[in-house]
Amino acid sequence: MKLLVPGCAGFIGSHFLERMLAREAVEIVGWDGQTDKIEHLLDHPRLTLRRRLLKGPEAFVQFEKDLAACDWVVNLAAICNPSQYNTEPLRTIYANFIDGYQIVELAAKYKKPLIHYSTSEVYGRTLSSYLPGQPYDNPELYVLDAATTPMIMGPVQNQRWTYATAKQLLERLVYAYHKEAGLRFAIVRPFNFFGPRMDYLPGIEGEGKPRVLAMFVGAVLNDDPILLVDGGHAMRTITSIHDAIDALVAIIDRPEHSLDHFYNIGNPANEVSMRDLAHGVRRAFARVSGDDRYLEHPIQEIGSKEFYGDGYEDCDRRVVDISAEQERLAWQPHRPLDHVLDETVGYYWRKYGQRAPQRQPATAVG
Ligand code: UGA
Repeated sequence: MKLLVPGCAGFIGSHFLERMLAREAVEIVGWDGQTDKIEHLLDHPRLTLRRRLLKGPEAFVQFEKDLAACDWVVNLAAICNPSQYNTEPLRTIYANFIDGYQIVELAAKYKKPLIHYSTSEVYGRTLSSYLPGQPYDNPELYVLDAATTPMIMGPVQNQRWTYATAKQLLERLVYAYHKEAGLRFAIVRPFNFFGPRMDYLPGIEGEGKPRVLAMFVGAVLNDDPILLVDGGHAMRTITSIHDAIDALVAIIDRPEHSLDHFYNIGNPANEVSMRDLAHGVRRAFARVSGDDRYLEHPIQEIGSKEFYGDGYEDCDRRVVDISAEQERLAWQPHRPLDHVLDETVGYYWRKYGQRAPQRQPATAVG
């Protein structure tokens, strides 16, 4: 089986490649401009890496050849960092729609099944968030179901939604090609996948504001306060990257059941507020380091305008309904939140714990 994987060297791609290359019958042609998350796979005999972006006519000629020769396309290429949606809206729209639509067109032209990674953010805010009083007393107004839930985004001036709308339009393009031209597809909507190699740690691996877990871990390792945006009331359901990869593999292994559907991939058992997540990260640091002083790491509140700038608006809550996904994929996420945090924080602790001497406990166990 030959897989073509644009965006193969990101967080999800690095775990997907590890899992699929362990199978002897799998060959992968990957495209990506950066390779630091897959350095350990670069010499693999069944991985062909095109170390470049899908830009310009020459790249497209090669990409079309790769696509014509593959059995599946798994498109993981995206910009998925909320701090960029309102500050770099053009880049966000181009990366998440314009670049993606060319892949969809080619998959349709060559009749290759396409697994397209979209986002849980296509749902926008919940209906509940617009209601006064006790907005979350009716699950029908906030539980997100791939077949029935409407998608609700704020005004155009709130550029947070550039990403969600670009992703939604690409989903609609995939579906239109399915209906009019017979494209076979699976659209995956990830719900806050966490795990090793997620994003970059600010102040250590790069500058800027990555997603929340990398922000919190970076803050602890840099001995800066953990920042809670708007009081940390937003809720997310956290999914282990390994449970997420199980679902992706099930899509490929069960095409007779899996194709031509939309998938919420998340773990409803792991719902947490950002405030509780901050406490969970502190506990995970204490466990992996053996030093209870991490339980006291400072947490500070910050307004979203100060943190993200103008045009930011938040998704309030993402409770995921996965009943159809469980049945179609014979899949069940089972890794609890503390397990996910221990694995991820432990990974970064082993890599960078020594770089935070002022926080380095005498009893650290690595
Ligand atoms: C992002 C992407 O936009 C989605 O496409 C993607 O599916 C999702 O991550 C994901 O990881 O699956 P979001 O969950 O809003 O969506 O992104 P985060 O940056 O992880 O923020 C989560 C919450 O934490 C937000 O309420 C944010 O305001 C808050 N936050 C973030 C903090 O309180 N402190 C921080 O330092 C960073």
